[in-house]
Amino acid sequence: MSFEAPGAPGRVEAYWLRRVFDRLVLWLYVKLFSLMLALFLCFPSRQRMSHNNGIAATGTVRIVDHPTFPPNEFFQPGRQFPVRIRHASATFLDDAMNCIRSLSIKFSDHHFRSPFDIEMNSGETSLFWSAASFLKFAQMRKEKYGIEYREYNRRYPDGLVGSQKAGRRHARSFLHLHYYCKTPFHYIGTDGIRRYAKYRIVPADGTPESGINTDPSDWDQCNQRVLPHETRGRNYLKYEYEDRVRREGAQYLMQIQTRPASENEDPEVFNNMVLWDAGIFPWHDLALIDITRTLDWKESTLTTFSVNNMPKSLGVIPAASIFDYNSLNYMRAHSEIARRARLLSYRVFGMVPPIPDNDNRNISDWGK
Ligand code: HEM
Repeated sequence: MSFEAPGAPGRVEAYWLRRVFDRLVLWLYVKLFSLMLALFLCFPSRQRMSHNNGIAATGTVRIVDHPTFPPNEFFQPGRQFPVRIRHASATFLDDAMNCIRSLSIKFSDHHFRSPFDIEMNSGETSLFWSAASFLKFAQMRKEKYGIEYREYNRRYPDGLVGSQKAGRRHARSFLHLHYYCKTPFHYIGTDGIRRYAKYRIVPADGTPESGINTDPSDWDQCNQRVLPHETRGRNYLKYEYEDRVRREGAQYLMQIQTRPASENEDPEVFNNMVLWDAGIFPWHDLALIDITRTLDWKESTLTTFSVNNMPKSLGVIPAASIFDYNSLNYMRAHSEIARRARLLSYRVFGMVPPIPDNDNRNISDWGK
């Protein structure tokens, strides 16, 4: 089918037909992916799609008293919420491997419900950029013994750079990493101005980031296995975090970057492989997170996050096709069934066991 540019006779209809078709394909594609995820992974294996290896904790989050970011109904100065966070390593069940690390937050102390959730990974940019690219990423994982994404990285060098920037081996602590939401969200201010926002979290005391791989070769990035003679255990980061929180708690600074929206936006604004120039769109302090208690394995495993847990003024930006950069968040928003299938699986088959200290290394699955 060929399409003429909109404007001339017949072109308008063809243009709208194409738009409807692209949206339908996106919807079908995403629904099918989520259903397969729920039926073939989350329910039978009692697993998250990724990030199974983690620890949750609770405390409070307080919006800064004197914001420099644009006013928003939800982020009122000084407003305080109970908070639940979860740190995780994607995707292996071994903290000593070279993994992407994450920090996800809910502005409530409940495993499911909350007025605001945000999920963040280490690394400023991502490993994929649209629903189409994400499916390639998932298809071409081909993990064996802790080695993965050889073909994907060769075919998509931008994805390789994203994973080199995100991998953190031998991090000192989950606290001493920087976490980025990567994809932009809506930000509608009380001033009525439409903007977009990105979020990040850093340690509140400014401790520099640890665990960054300096100058990794392309092959090193595919090989995420524990190093020979590794002395760190499979759960070392989670144990370190438990000890730290018991001793002194953990404080984080959540920051926000906003930029005004415009009609006919340049699509690259939404590309999570491209950073917004912080000189033009600076990071503003948004909230302080004070963690006081870690949660046990069962509660940590039950805890789940969703891009749908957001006020309307801060929610997901619509997507028009599987190639639209915003289709990544569209996919996440439509993957609720996978989260629910996982929670249901625990009720049917029981909770997955904690990760043992002494067992096979370099694995991403229970029972391997
Ligand atoms: C750059 C984009 C993305 C980021 C930053 C991101 C981040 C994360 C993080 C940090 C977690 C772990 C949350 C936890 O601790 O429970 C997670 C889990 C998950 N993500 Fe993503 N993700 C992204 C894209 C996607 C996409 C495209 C999908 C497609 C469906 C997806 C589906 C999921 C699912 C199903 C889970 C497990 C949820 C659960 O069972 O609780 N994510 N993601």
